[in-house]
Amino acid sequence: MKKYALISILSLCLAAGAFFAACSSNSSNPTVSQVYTGDANHGQYLVETVTGCADCHSQLDQQGNIVAGMKFAGGQRFYLGPQVGAVYSRNITQDSVNGIGAWTDAEIITAVRTGIIPQHAMNGMIMSDTLFPVMPYQLLGNYSDNDMQDIVAYLRTIKGIKYAPPMDTVFFRPLAAKETTIPTPASTNDVNLRGKYLVTVGLCADCHTQRQAPPSTGLDISKFLAGGFGFDGIFPNVTIYSANITPDMNTGIGMWSDAQIDSAFQHGKDDQGKQICPPMPWARFAGLSSADAQAIIAYLHTIPAVKDSVPNNCPF
Ligand code: HEC
Ligand code: HEC
Repeated sequence: MKKYALISILSLCLAAGAFFAACSSNSSNPTVSQVYTGDANHGQYLVETVTGCADCHSQLDQQGNIVAGMKFAGGQRFYLGPQVGAVYSRNITQDSVNGIGAWTDAEIITAVRTGIIPQHAMNGMIMSDTLFPVMPYQLLGNYSDNDMQDIVAYLRTIKGIKYAPPMDTVFFRPLAAKETTIPTPASTNDVNLRGKYLVTVGLCADCHTQRQAPPSTGLDISKFLAGGFGFDGIFPNVTIYSANITPDMNTGIGMWSDAQIDSAFQHGKDDQGKQICPPMPWARFAGLSSADAQAIIAYLHTIPAVKDSVPNNCPF
Protein backbone atom coordinates (compact mmCIF):
# COMPACT_ATOMS: atom_id res chain seq x y z
CA MET A 1 0.00 0.00 0.00
CA LYS A 2 2.68 2.43 1.10
CA LYS A 3 4.82 1.55 -1.87
CA TYR A 4 1.97 2.29 -4.24
CA ALA A 5 1.42 5.68 -2.70
CA LEU A 6 5.07 6.56 -3.16
CA ILE A 7 5.16 5.48 -6.75
CA SER A 8 2.11 7.47 -7.64
CA ILE A 9 3.44 10.59 -5.94
CA LEU A 10 6.71 10.12 -7.77
CA SER A 11 5.12 9.73 -11.17
CA LEU A 12 2.97 12.77 -10.47
CA CYS A 13 6.18 14.65 -9.73
CA LEU A 14 7.79 13.50 -12.93
CA ALA A 15 4.73 14.44 -14.94
CA ALA A 16 4.50 17.85 -13.30
CA GLY A 17 8.21 18.55 -13.60
CA ALA A 18 10.79 18.97 -10.88
CA PHE A 19 9.26 22.20 -9.58
CA PHE A 20 6.00 20.75 -8.39
CA ALA A 21 5.92 21.72 -4.73
CA ALA A 22 5.01 18.30 -3.37
CA CYS A 23 8.16 16.85 -4.89
CA SER A 24 10.60 19.09 -3.09
CA SER A 25 12.29 17.67 -0.04
CA ASN A 26 10.76 20.49 1.98
CA SER A 27 7.49 18.64 1.57
CA SER A 28 5.92 17.14 4.65
CA ASN A 29 6.59 13.63 3.34
CA PRO A 30 10.36 13.14 3.58
CA THR A 31 10.28 9.69 1.95
CA VAL A 32 9.41 11.29 -1.38
CA SER A 33 12.78 12.98 -1.71
CA GLN A 34 14.52 9.72 -0.83
CA VAL A 35 13.02 7.94 -3.81
CA TYR A 36 13.77 10.85 -6.12
CA THR A 37 16.66 9.89 -8.35
CA GLY A 38 18.20 12.64 -10.43
CA ASP A 39 17.12 13.27 -14.01
CA ALA A 40 20.38 13.60 -15.98
CA ASN A 41 18.65 15.25 -18.96
CA HIS A 42 17.23 18.02 -16.83
CA GLY A 43 20.59 18.23 -15.04
CA GLN A 44 22.25 18.76 -18.42
CA TYR A 45 19.91 21.70 -19.11
CA LEU A 46 20.81 23.26 -15.74
CA VAL A 47 24.57 22.67 -16.08
CA GLU A 48 24.94 23.55 -19.78
CA THR A 49 22.26 26.19 -20.37
CA VAL A 50 21.21 27.79 -17.10
CA THR A 51 24.38 27.94 -14.96
CA GLY A 52 27.13 27.24 -17.48
CA CYS A 53 29.48 25.35 -15.16
CA ALA A 54 31.83 24.61 -18.08
CA ASP A 55 32.32 28.33 -18.84
CA CYS A 56 34.46 28.44 -15.70
CA HIS A 57 35.42 24.80 -15.29
CA SER A 58 37.36 24.61 -18.58
CA GLN A 59 40.41 26.33 -19.99
CA LEU A 60 39.57 28.76 -22.78
CA ASP A 61 41.55 29.52 -25.93
CA GLN A 62 42.29 33.03 -27.29
CA GLN A 63 38.85 33.20 -28.89
CA GLY A 64 37.16 32.30 -25.62
CA ASN A 65 36.26 28.80 -26.78
CA ILE A 66 36.71 25.76 -24.56
CA VAL A 67 40.00 23.98 -25.31
CA ALA A 68 39.12 20.78 -27.17
CA GLY A 69 38.92 17.69 -24.99
CA MET A 70 39.19 19.71 -21.77
CA LYS A 71 35.56 20.54 -21.02
CA PHE A 72 34.92 20.37 -17.23
CA ALA A 73 38.60 19.53 -16.54
CA GLY A 74 39.18 22.90 -14.79
CA GLY A 75 42.38 24.96 -14.86
CA GLN A 76 40.92 28.35 -15.80
CA ARG A 77 42.74 31.09 -13.86
CA PHE A 78 40.88 33.76 -11.88
CA TYR A 79 43.09 36.57 -10.63
CA LEU A 80 41.72 38.21 -7.50
CA GLY A 81 44.29 40.99 -7.15
CA PRO A 82 47.66 41.34 -5.39
CA GLN A 83 46.22 40.94 -1.87
CA VAL A 84 44.58 37.62 -2.61
CA GLY A 85 46.32 35.89 -5.51
CA ALA A 86 44.90 33.56 -8.14
CA VAL A 87 42.55 30.61 -7.97
CA TYR A 88 42.01 27.97 -10.61
CA SER A 89 38.76 26.20 -11.33
CA ARG A 90 38.87 22.52 -10.45
CA ASN A 91 38.41 19.35 -12.43
CA ILE A 92 34.76 18.32 -12.07
CA THR A 93 34.89 15.33 -14.42
CA GLN A 94 34.44 11.81 -13.07
CA ASP A 95 38.19 11.12 -12.90
CA SER A 96 38.61 9.65 -9.42
CA VAL A 97 42.06 11.16 -8.80
CA ASN A 98 41.86 14.65 -10.32
CA GLY A 99 38.13 15.10 -10.52
CA ILE A 100 35.10 14.37 -8.36
CA GLY A 101 34.57 10.74 -9.35
CA ALA A 102 35.32 9.56 -5.79
CA TRP A 103 33.02 12.13 -4.12
CA THR A 104 29.62 11.10 -2.81
CA ASP A 105 26.51 12.83 -4.15
CA ALA A 106 26.11 14.62 -0.82
CA GLU A 107 29.69 15.91 -0.94
CA ILE A 108 29.17 17.36 -4.42
CA ILE A 109 25.89 18.97 -3.40
CA THR A 110 27.45 20.53 -0.29
CA ALA A 111 30.37 21.93 -2.32
CA VAL A 112 28.08 23.51 -4.93
CA ARG A 113 25.72 24.98 -2.34
CA THR A 114 28.10 26.05 0.43
CA GLY A 115 31.65 26.03 -0.97
CA ILE A 116 32.73 23.47 1.65
CA ILE A 117 34.66 20.54 0.21
CA PRO A 118 35.30 17.18 1.89
CA GLN A 119 38.52 16.55 3.83
CA HIS A 120 39.66 13.89 1.36
CA ALA A 121 39.62 16.48 -1.43
CA MET A 122 41.72 19.11 0.36
CA ASN A 123 44.64 18.59 -1.98
CA GLY A 124 46.65 21.79 -1.99
CA MET A 125 44.21 23.80 0.09
CA ILE A 126 45.73 26.03 2.75
CA MET A 127 44.27 25.25 6.19
CA SER A 128 40.68 25.42 5.10
CA ASP A 129 38.04 23.40 3.34
CA THR A 130 36.26 26.49 2.01
CA LEU A 131 36.31 27.53 -1.64
CA PHE A 132 36.70 31.11 -2.80
CA PRO A 133 33.33 32.53 -3.82
CA VAL A 134 34.61 32.78 -7.40
CA MET A 135 32.84 29.45 -7.32
CA PRO A 136 29.42 31.12 -7.02
CA TYR A 137 28.04 28.99 -4.21
CA GLN A 138 26.34 32.01 -2.61
CA LEU A 139 23.95 32.02 -5.58
CA LEU A 140 24.01 28.30 -6.42
CA GLY A 141 23.06 27.66 -2.77
CA ASN A 142 19.55 28.56 -3.88
CA TYR A 143 19.27 25.48 -6.12
CA SER A 144 16.38 23.23 -5.04
CA ASP A 145 17.05 19.73 -3.75
CA ASN A 146 15.65 18.02 -6.83
CA ASP A 147 17.55 20.26 -9.22
CA MET A 148 20.76 19.52 -7.31
CA GLN A 149 20.13 15.81 -7.69
CA ASP A 150 19.53 16.31 -11.42
CA ILE A 151 22.83 18.21 -11.67
CA VAL A 152 24.70 15.41 -9.91
CA ALA A 153 23.05 12.81 -12.16
CA TYR A 154 24.38 14.72 -15.18
CA LEU A 155 27.86 15.25 -13.67
CA ARG A 156 28.06 11.46 -13.20
CA THR A 157 27.81 11.06 -17.00
CA ILE A 158 30.89 13.25 -17.65
CA LYS A 159 33.80 11.01 -18.57
CA GLY A 160 36.90 11.42 -16.45
CA ILE A 161 39.73 13.55 -17.82
CA LYS A 162 43.15 12.92 -16.29
CA TYR A 163 44.27 16.50 -15.71
CA ALA A 164 45.30 18.19 -12.51
CA PRO A 165 44.63 21.95 -12.58
CA PRO A 166 47.34 24.20 -11.11
CA MET A 167 47.05 24.76 -7.37
CA ASP A 168 45.65 28.06 -6.15
CA THR A 169 48.31 30.66 -5.34
CA VAL A 170 46.52 32.52 -2.55
CA PHE A 171 47.63 34.05 0.72
CA PHE A 172 44.54 33.18 2.75
CA ARG A 173 41.31 31.23 2.55
CA PRO A 174 37.87 32.78 2.89
CA LEU A 175 35.46 31.98 5.68
CA ALA A 176 32.30 30.21 4.63
CA ALA A 177 29.92 32.75 3.14
CA LYS A 178 26.17 32.70 3.40
CA GLU A 179 23.73 32.40 0.53
CA THR A 180 22.99 35.68 -1.18
CA THR A 181 19.41 36.86 -0.78
CA ILE A 182 17.97 38.00 -4.07
CA PRO A 183 15.19 40.63 -4.10
CA THR A 184 11.73 39.09 -4.19
CA PRO A 185 9.46 40.44 -6.91
CA ALA A 186 6.66 42.76 -5.80
CA SER A 187 4.09 40.47 -7.38
CA THR A 188 5.02 36.94 -6.44
CA ASN A 189 3.09 35.06 -9.07
CA ASP A 190 4.54 31.78 -10.33
CA VAL A 191 6.23 33.19 -13.40
CA ASN A 192 7.98 35.95 -11.42
CA LEU A 193 9.19 33.45 -8.85
CA ARG A 194 10.42 31.09 -11.54
CA GLY A 195 12.21 34.08 -13.12
CA LYS A 196 13.80 35.02 -9.81
CA TYR A 197 15.00 31.43 -9.39
CA LEU A 198 16.51 31.32 -12.89
CA VAL A 199 18.16 34.73 -12.53
CA THR A 200 19.70 33.47 -9.26
CA VAL A 201 21.01 30.09 -10.40
CA GLY A 202 21.67 31.49 -13.91
CA LEU A 203 24.23 33.74 -12.18
CA CYS A 204 23.07 37.00 -13.81
CA ALA A 205 23.94 38.78 -10.55
CA ASP A 206 27.43 37.28 -10.42
CA CYS A 207 28.33 39.36 -13.48
CA HIS A 208 25.72 42.15 -13.42
CA THR A 209 26.17 43.28 -9.78
CA GLN A 210 29.13 45.10 -8.24
CA ARG A 211 30.80 43.73 -5.12
CA GLN A 212 30.74 45.29 -1.67
CA ALA A 213 33.91 47.05 -0.58
CA PRO A 214 36.69 44.68 0.57
CA PRO A 215 37.21 42.68 2.73
CA SER A 216 33.65 41.55 1.99
CA THR A 217 33.29 39.48 -1.15
CA GLY A 218 29.51 39.70 -1.21
CA LEU A 219 27.38 41.30 -3.90
CA ASP A 220 26.22 44.88 -3.34
CA ILE A 221 22.50 44.11 -3.38
CA SER A 222 21.65 47.85 -3.29
CA LYS A 223 22.95 47.82 -6.87
CA PHE A 224 21.31 44.51 -7.80
CA LEU A 225 21.73 43.90 -11.56
CA ALA A 226 22.81 47.53 -12.11
CA GLY A 227 25.96 46.41 -13.93
CA GLY A 228 29.35 48.09 -13.80
CA PHE A 229 31.32 44.99 -12.86
CA GLY A 230 34.47 45.06 -15.00
CA PHE A 231 36.12 42.32 -17.08
CA ASP A 232 39.73 42.75 -18.22
CA GLY A 233 41.67 40.54 -20.58
CA ILE A 234 38.89 39.92 -23.10
CA PHE A 235 40.10 42.64 -25.48
CA PRO A 236 43.58 44.22 -25.18
CA ASN A 237 43.56 47.38 -23.02
CA VAL A 238 39.77 47.50 -22.78
CA THR A 239 37.61 46.82 -19.73
CA ILE A 240 34.20 45.44 -20.63
CA TYR A 241 31.56 46.38 -18.05
CA SER A 242 28.41 44.39 -17.47
CA ALA A 243 25.29 46.33 -18.46
CA ASN A 244 22.67 47.84 -16.16
CA ILE A 245 19.72 45.44 -16.64
CA THR A 246 17.41 47.02 -14.04
CA PRO A 247 14.19 48.66 -15.35
CA ASP A 248 15.68 52.19 -15.11
CA MET A 249 14.42 54.11 -18.17
CA ASN A 250 17.66 55.93 -18.97
CA THR A 251 20.54 53.84 -17.70
CA GLY A 252 18.92 50.37 -17.62
CA ILE A 253 16.71 48.36 -19.96
CA GLY A 254 13.40 49.94 -18.89
CA MET A 255 12.69 51.04 -22.48
CA TRP A 256 13.37 47.62 -24.02
CA SER A 257 10.43 45.54 -25.21
CA ASP A 258 10.18 41.92 -24.10
CA ALA A 259 11.08 40.90 -27.66
CA GLN A 260 14.25 43.00 -27.49
CA ILE A 261 15.31 41.40 -24.23
CA ASP A 262 14.57 38.00 -25.72
CA SER A 263 16.68 38.92 -28.75
CA ALA A 264 19.60 39.59 -26.41
CA PHE A 265 19.34 35.92 -25.37
CA GLN A 266 18.56 34.49 -28.81
CA HIS A 267 20.95 36.54 -30.98
CA GLY A 268 23.20 38.51 -28.61
CA LYS A 269 21.83 41.79 -30.00
CA ASP A 270 20.93 44.90 -27.99
CA ASP A 271 17.89 47.17 -28.58
CA GLN A 272 19.77 48.93 -31.40
CA GLY A 273 20.63 45.62 -33.07
CA LYS A 274 24.28 45.99 -32.02
CA GLN A 275 26.25 42.87 -31.04
CA ILE A 276 26.66 42.36 -27.29
CA CYS A 277 30.22 41.60 -26.20
CA PRO A 278 31.57 38.66 -24.23
CA PRO A 279 31.56 37.54 -21.53
CA MET A 280 27.75 37.89 -21.77
CA PRO A 281 26.94 34.18 -22.40
CA TRP A 282 23.98 34.84 -24.68
CA ALA A 283 24.66 31.81 -26.91
CA ARG A 284 24.10 29.63 -23.87
CA PHE A 285 20.89 31.46 -22.95
CA ALA A 286 19.63 30.94 -26.52
CA GLY A 287 19.06 27.36 -25.35
CA LEU A 288 16.60 28.42 -22.61
CA SER A 289 13.09 27.08 -23.04
CA SER A 290 10.83 29.91 -24.15
CA ALA A 291 8.87 29.63 -20.89
CA ASP A 292 12.09 30.08 -18.92
CA ALA A 293 13.24 33.03 -21.06
CA GLN A 294 9.84 34.69 -20.54
CA ALA A 295 10.03 34.06 -16.79
CA ILE A 296 13.44 35.78 -16.61
CA ILE A 297 12.09 38.74 -18.57
CA ALA A 298 9.02 38.97 -16.31
CA TYR A 299 11.21 38.99 -13.20
CA LEU A 300 13.55 41.65 -14.63
CA HIS A 301 10.53 44.00 -14.88
CA THR A 302 9.89 43.64 -11.14
CA ILE A 303 13.31 44.46 -9.65
CA PRO A 304 14.12 47.92 -8.30
CA ALA A 305 15.28 50.37 -10.99
CA VAL A 306 18.79 51.61 -10.22
CA LYS A 307 20.06 54.76 -11.92
CA ASP A 308 23.67 54.00 -12.76
CA SER A 309 25.28 54.75 -16.08
CA VAL A 310 27.73 52.08 -17.22
CA PRO A 311 30.30 52.68 -19.97
CA ASN A 312 29.73 50.53 -23.05
CA ASN A 313 33.24 49.69 -24.25
CA CYS A 314 32.25 46.83 -26.51
CA PRO A 315 34.37 47.26 -29.67
CA PHE A 316 31.90 45.33 -31.88
C1 HEC B 1 32.08 31.75 -12.18
C2 HEC B 1 32.88 30.55 -12.32
C3 HEC B 1 32.32 29.23 -11.84
C4 HEC B 1 31.10 28.68 -12.14
C5 HEC B 1 30.00 29.25 -13.01
C6 HEC B 1 31.07 27.40 -11.49
N1 HEC B 1 32.23 27.17 -10.81
FE1 HEC B 1 32.67 25.55 -9.63
N2 HEC B 1 34.45 26.41 -9.10
C7 HEC B 1 34.96 27.57 -9.63
C8 HEC B 1 36.27 27.83 -9.05
C9 HEC B 1 37.18 28.99 -9.39
C10 HEC B 1 36.52 26.79 -8.13
C11 HEC B 1 37.73 26.65 -7.19
C12 HEC B 1 37.67 27.73 -6.12
C13 HEC B 1 38.84 27.74 -5.17
O1 HEC B 1 39.93 27.30 -5.58
O2 HEC B 1 38.70 28.18 -4.00
C14 HEC B 1 35.34 25.90 -8.19
C15 HEC B 1 35.18 24.74 -7.44
C16 HEC B 1 34.17 23.81 -7.62
C17 HEC B 1 34.08 22.52 -6.96
C18 HEC B 1 35.08 21.96 -5.94
C19 HEC B 1 35.94 20.93 -6.64
C20 HEC B 1 37.15 20.51 -5.86
O3 HEC B 1 37.87 19.61 -6.35
O4 HEC B 1 37.44 21.06 -4.79
C21 HEC B 1 32.96 21.89 -7.45
C22 HEC B 1 32.44 20.51 -7.08
C23 HEC B 1 32.35 22.78 -8.41
N3 HEC B 1 33.09 23.94 -8.49
C24 HEC B 1 31.23 22.46 -9.16
C25 HEC B 1 30.55 23.37 -9.98
C26 HEC B 1 29.30 23.10 -10.65
C27 HEC B 1 28.56 21.78 -10.61
C28 HEC B 1 28.93 24.25 -11.29
C29 HEC B 1 27.67 24.52 -12.07
C30 HEC B 1 26.40 24.19 -11.38
C31 HEC B 1 29.99 25.23 -11.05
N4 HEC B 1 30.94 24.66 -10.26
C32 HEC B 1 29.99 26.52 -11.56
C33 HEC B 1 34.34 28.41 -10.54
C34 HEC B 1 33.04 28.26 -11.02
C1 HEC C 1 29.69 35.87 -17.41
C2 HEC C 1 29.10 37.17 -17.14
C3 HEC C 1 27.63 37.40 -17.46
C4 HEC C 1 26.55 36.63 -17.10
C5 HEC C 1 26.53 35.31 -16.31
C6 HEC C 1 25.38 37.31 -17.59
N1 HEC C 1 25.75 38.46 -18.25
FE1 HEC C 1 24.49 39.72 -19.24
N2 HEC C 1 26.09 40.83 -19.86
C7 HEC C 1 27.39 40.66 -19.42
C8 HEC C 1 28.20 41.74 -19.96
C9 HEC C 1 29.69 41.94 -19.69
C10 HEC C 1 27.36 42.56 -20.74
C11 HEC C 1 27.74 43.82 -21.54
C12 HEC C 1 28.52 43.42 -22.79
C13 HEC C 1 28.75 44.60 -23.72
O1 HEC C 1 29.26 45.65 -23.25
O2 HEC C 1 28.42 44.49 -24.91
C14 HEC C 1 26.03 41.95 -20.67
C15 HEC C 1 24.91 42.41 -21.34
C16 HEC C 1 23.61 41.96 -21.12
C17 HEC C 1 22.43 42.51 -21.75
C18 HEC C 1 22.41 43.65 -22.79
C19 HEC C 1 22.17 44.95 -22.06
C20 HEC C 1 22.57 46.18 -22.82
O3 HEC C 1 22.28 47.30 -22.32
O4 HEC C 1 23.21 46.08 -23.88
C21 HEC C 1 21.35 41.85 -21.22
C22 HEC C 1 19.88 42.09 -21.53
C23 HEC C 1 21.86 40.89 -20.28
N3 HEC C 1 23.24 40.95 -20.26
C24 HEC C 1 21.07 40.05 -19.51
C25 HEC C 1 21.58 39.01 -18.72
C26 HEC C 1 20.75 38.09 -17.97
C27 HEC C 1 19.24 38.18 -17.83
C28 HEC C 1 21.59 37.18 -17.40
C29 HEC C 1 21.24 35.93 -16.59
C30 HEC C 1 20.22 35.06 -17.14
C31 HEC C 1 22.94 37.55 -17.77
N4 HEC C 1 22.90 38.67 -18.56
C32 HEC C 1 24.09 36.87 -17.38
C33 HEC C 1 27.86 39.63 -18.65
C34 HEC C 1 27.12 38.56 -18.16
